Amino acid sequence: MIKKGIILAGGKGTRMSPLTKAVNKQLLPLYDKPLIFYPLSVLMLAGIKNILIIVNKGQLNQFRKILPEKNNLGIKIEYKEQSSPRGLPEAFLIGEKFIGKDNVALILGDNFFYGQSLTKTLKKNISLSKGARIFLHPVKNPNLYGVATIGRNNRVKKLIEKPKKTNSNFAVTGLYFFDNKVTQLSRKLKISKRGELEIIDLLNFYKRKKLLKADFIGRGGAWLDTGNINDFYDASNFISTVEKRQGLKIACLEEISFNNKWITKEEIDAAIKFYGKCDYANYLKKLNYP
Ligand code: G1P
Repeated sequence: MIKKGIILAGGKGTRMSPLTKAVNKQLLPLYDKPLIFYPLSVLMLAGIKNILIIVNKGQLNQFRKILPEKNNLGIKIEYKEQSSPRGLPEAFLIGEKFIGKDNVALILGDNFFYGQSLTKTLKKNISLSKGARIFLHPVKNPNLYGVATIGRNNRVKKLIEKPKKTNSNFAVTGLYFFDNKVTQLSRKLKISKRGELEIIDLLNFYKRKKLLKADFIGRGGAWLDTGNINDFYDASNFISTVEKRQGLKIACLEEISFNNKWITKEEIDAAIKFYGKCDYANYLKKLNYP
């Protein structure tokens, strides 16, 4: 069972400079909320209440303003700083104490997931006791991502980071579930040619031991990139379109928490005060509280 989750919200966001010169990318608005709300909502939808957020050195106070440790979300948030990003598996080294003896989920702070069956897929995999789980999504430009070749019974045949050529269109999304061996294995990783510890190398450890399984965010779901400014605005437009049509918000953290029965109407009222007069608070006021 996975009860802990790490959001890796470090990184310099250089592809979005100058926007990211003074403000961390995960605090920029993806339509009507800071980007970090979206990956956090995914962990919460999975039922994870213990969360470690890894941020760039010097950015802690900014994050605390929007997601304080003492929050109205019914979850436990901890922070750790990263002095300079050295690849995704570093999250398990920085988070070693937080992980302790538990299994853990990792989500990248700039990944956006959406879809009817998302919660079902998350809940199905959250019971993981041994091994690792990845979530694949078909994309037109797989060479920008980690790519998985899938064999019979959805077995992962091959995993390559940003291959120049590939026959597979399945990208490895930035959401991973791991058993407790992950810290130990991360310590064994060597720095790659691009100067980082590679998540694909870590996953290949599990694959070699036949302990890696894949699940799918199928074509009825969305996994959107927010890597550069155009992708960022495309994702914003997607959210705006869905929210305006439905009158329902994507990644409203208090709504998810309330539905999970982690908070009561009192915490929602406290959240409404915390946000002040704004569209997000008005939405919280209008939710149906049985
Ligand atoms: C990282 C991973 C890659 C994965 C991607 C998902 O890429 O290395 O395997 O597909 O995140 O967002 P990066 O963001 O470091 O280019």
